[in-house]
Amino acid sequence: MRHLTSIRDLSIEEIEVLFVIADKMSRFLHQSHGVLAGYIMGSLFFEPSTRTRLSFESAMNRLGGRVVTMADVKSSSVVKGESLADSVRIVGSYSDILVLRHPLQGAARAASLFSPVPVINAGDGGHEHPTQTLCDLYTLRHAKGRIEGLRVLLYGDLKYGRTTHSLAQALCRFGADVLCVAEPGLELPDSVRRACTGVEGVTALDVDLRGGDVFGAAATQGLLLATDPNRWPLREGTLDVDALSADALYVTRLQSERLSATEEGLERRLNPVDRAFLQHSGFEDAVVLHPLPRVDEIDHAVDRDPRGFYFKQAALGVPIRMALVSFLLGREIMKAAPPPAPPLLPPLPGEHCTQADCVANVEGDYLEFQVLEDAAGERVCAFCDHPLAAAQ
Ligand code: NCD
Repeated sequence: MRHLTSIRDLSIEEIEVLFVIADKMSRFLHQSHGVLAGYIMGSLFFEPSTRTRLSFESAMNRLGGRVVTMADVKSSSVVKGESLADSVRIVGSYSDILVLRHPLQGAARAASLFSPVPVINAGDGGHEHPTQTLCDLYTLRHAKGRIEGLRVLLYGDLKYGRTTHSLAQALCRFGADVLCVAEPGLELPDSVRRACTGVEGVTALDVDLRGGDVFGAAATQGLLLATDPNRWPLREGTLDVDALSADALYVTRLQSERLSATEEGLERRLNPVDRAFLQHSGFEDAVVLHPLPRVDEIDHAVDRDPRGFYFKQAALGVPIRMALVSFLLGREIMKAAPPPAPPLLPPLPGEHCTQADCVANVEGDYLEFQVLEDAAGERVCAFCDHPLAAAQ
């Protein structure tokens, strides 16, 4: 049984086959071909969602399947103190596939250990959001005809923006280059940086931004994740933003609901993407993507610019999810090889996860702690990918 808890659970070859299946599915959008007739999807949403839940449900309906939904945590047994494992066991016994959104990092992996059916991670705290990444990659392929070799700028809250965590890793594995420009204090976590540099050939470079006024005075530094940094307008560690020729600008909102007590009250300091921003020479050919919801980081005037691609991106979430669900339910046979499973390491006595909002800590009463060696060779928590603390 296959689950999708991290974007690393799919090989690049498999993702490419999913694109082909999604293309085929797009042609059946208005005439459900009943591939999933008789199947039920359980959607368990412990956090708010519009696009993700409804695009999954639309995908299932379009394929002739049905859906049972828990969209409001207040109406579920969680308020009575039910554990995640028990909720998943139960709803898994009512359905053939589970889609889970949860505020704890690593919740989807934890769920996969107890679920009798495949689990799809629809966002686990500030950790990952792999199906949004499938949608983002599928959109890039639509807009640009390829993914390999693209220059993608990730812009916004890269610390808590879980979509960027899955996307940065996938882009590196596809051979695209990534430039990260983060809200000051909300830079890409080290765990994601390590996962990216663990991809063969990818190096990470902290760069000074020149001509970066377009981003706002607060953005002086960027992080380049590239297979060949020489392809970038770089001189002695300084990146010339005017000569960027970005292919895509991926914007995220400040994830204010996840800010820690010390970060509370933090306001967006990066410039919003508006008409003036897009007149900058570095973004002439850049499509603008956003996982949505947008708050104020993209001006509404950009909706009318042909480079504004975020509504098309949201729409493409349906066919790609149709492809994924059919695949995980064994209704699409793939010849592509899955990725090798990273080996689990025995935890050392007293070793534990450092993240207070990791499922390993919050549901630790029954959940067996798991340790992995990450792509860079470090021992990390298998649920949230963050480094471990030794016994005190
Ligand atoms: C994103 C999420 O939930 O992480 N939304 C989505 O699924 N499209 C992005 C966000 O909430 O900012």
